[in-house]
Amino acid sequence: MTTSAMTSQHLHARVARANAARGLRARVVAPAGRSIATARRSAIAVSAARAETDDAASAPASASSRRDVVLGGALALASSALAATTPVAIADEAPTTTETTTTTTRDRKSVVVTGSNSGIGLDGAAKLAARGYDVTLACRTLAKAQAAKASIEATAAANGVVLTGSLTPAECDLASLDSIRAFAASRRAAPLDALVLNAGVEFSGDNTVRRTADGFEITVGVNHLGHFLLTNLLLPDLEAAASASPQSDGTTPRVVVTASEVHDPASPGGNVGLGAGLGDLRGLAENGAAFEMLDGSPYDADKAYKDSKLCNVLFARELQRRLRDAGSVVTVNTFGPGLITRTGLFRAQNPLFVKVFDFATNEIFHVAETVDGGGDCLVRMVTDAELEGVGDVYYNNGIAPGEGKTGHKFERGDVSAEAMDGEKGKALWAYSERLVGLSA
Ligand SMILES: NC(=O)c1ccc[n+]([C@@H]2O[C@H](COP(=O)([O-])OP(=O)(O)OC[C@H]3O[C@@H](n4cnc5c(N)ncnc54)[C@H](OP(=O)(O)O)[C@@H]3O)[C@@H](O)[C@H]2O)c1
Repeated sequence: MTTSAMTSQHLHARVARANAARGLRARVVAPAGRSIATARRSAIAVSAARAETDDAASAPASASSRRDVVLGGALALASSALAATTPVAIADEAPTTTETTTTTTRDRKSVVVTGSNSGIGLDGAAKLAARGYDVTLACRTLAKAQAAKASIEATAAANGVVLTGSLTPAECDLASLDSIRAFAASRRAAPLDALVLNAGVEFSGDNTVRRTADGFEITVGVNHLGHFLLTNLLLPDLEAAASASPQSDGTTPRVVVTASEVHDPASPGGNVGLGAGLGDLRGLAENGAAFEMLDGSPYDADKAYKDSKLCNVLFARELQRRLRDAGSVVTVNTFGPGLITRTGLFRAQNPLFVKVFDFATNEIFHVAETVDGGGDCLVRMVTDAELEGVGDVYYNNGIAPGEGKTGHKFERGDVSAEAMDGEKGKALWAYSERLVGLSA
């Protein structure tokens, strides 16, 4: 029996058991996404961007043109790619107690957050632990996960925040299928209430093709294929949570994917440089694991990142379809956190460029989100009652002057036309299954 068949059988069996135990019929899912949000933003015409302009969204046209001048200047300053430092963000919220009701064996909800040693993953993980979640910090190395735990605990203590949930450091290198399998096995099928697929890499501006341990182009390899395998291996754990406390509070397990507005070539961030597009997946058809670009085009690191974010959305939609067809109550949703220059995402880019870009977007044009704001988005996707039982939706953190702490509004948005292509989602799934060894 292939691993894929085993996973699928387990899924169906667990769904049946879970539903029988709960006396439920499947109640997933709200229809997919193009229904609510409208385009609210004017374009930011940053020329051939060296930086991701993710979710750098709406601003009045005059501000937009001023931004062009400043950002154009910033681009002109960029000359060499050096490593950038990675500021560490931590929770700054007052603790809240969990509202779950204990009836059987577990008294707290559990969540796995990938890429939780830096950026919005670290911030979100800290906030979830403060809200009573047992958080597994799934990081590239155990040492990074341990450092993240120590950092969250130290900051919480310094700010008088009580972490009512636990923090468990774990190694899960998404650039290694062996590491992912070892991490999944280490959980010993413990019920899992939420899986946050947050880790990500991008190498815009440096078109050297980097590869994972298994030979995949690293951007798609980590951002999509690693998460694809991890999710498939943890589906039984998510299903197990559907029938075990504290899910008796009526909530259902969630898969949350940190995508990005740049998955959409029509978005302000996605329309700079080459747009996301998988074409007919020729790169995979012709080259298998040795692919460089999914559509078979010449390698472009910036497009590879955008493509990987498109894969995130196509994967999430196809996974939700499969779960719904299997009668599962697990929901799958994606979100774009906004442009956040103070995470580690830009570490491979020219630090001078990043500095100027950071200053311009944060201090002059006020189009950037903070790490705190991005972490809040992640937490909302995991915890919001508004999303209970709702799947196949995309939330976007768009610029909305005067709204919230940073002039952003997090609301349901549209995904790109290509992301709505169910047949492409199925084709990507089939290729991905083969590449990660879930099918022959
Ligand atoms: N910042 C933005 O403007 C923005 C906008 C839209 C979407 N996003 C998305 O938000 C997510 C989080 O990014 P961020 O901005 O918070 O950047 P970040 O600080 O660089 O966080 C990325 C995380 O992914 C981890 N990671 C990278 N390669 C990995 C691997 N092989 N195995 C396991 N973990 C790995 C990193 O760990 P290491 O420290 O070990 O590298 C880091 O913890 C990403 O998916 C990104 O695409 C960001």
